[in-house]
Amino acid sequence: MSDLKQSVKEQLIQDALEARKKAYVPYSKYPVGAALLTASGKTYSGANIENAAFPVTICAERVAIFKAVSEGDMDLQAIAVATKNGGTPCGSCRQVMAEFNPELILYIVDENGKITQETTLKEILPGYFGPDSLVR
Ligand code: THU
Repeated sequence: MSDLKQSVKEQLIQDALEARKKAYVPYSKYPVGAALLTASGKTYSGANIENAAFPVTICAERVAIFKAVSEGDMDLQAIAVATKNGGTPCGSCRQVMAEFNPELILYIVDENGKITQETTLKEILPGYFGPDSLVR
């Protein structure tokens, strides 16, 4: 796994912690922050946004990814995800990550920014169904 420069990694983690403060979580009270770095060098942040109609809730990771992709910035490099306890991305977020880069680096951190897991998407979603799986 090719890692990021230490200073870039630390900044990404700080951005995820900062993004977490913007979470809208009146129901779960479980704020999540994400910061996504693309090959262009830009960072996109995201926080989970809940809804009174619970399933409409969107995760922090997907907010960050959709912000990047909707700006045409699709070469995802690394994502930092911050929760209270180092929670890992849900299955739906993993599937969205697989669409864009199975080699995506993930830094999972707790509320203090301590890395609890450093991994890649393909490690946490083996056998993923991706664009190449669609045989036409
Ligand atoms: N959540 C995320 O933002 N990312 C994940 O990968 C897991 C779950 C959010 C959704 C919901 O707002 C709260 O955490 C509790 O499930």
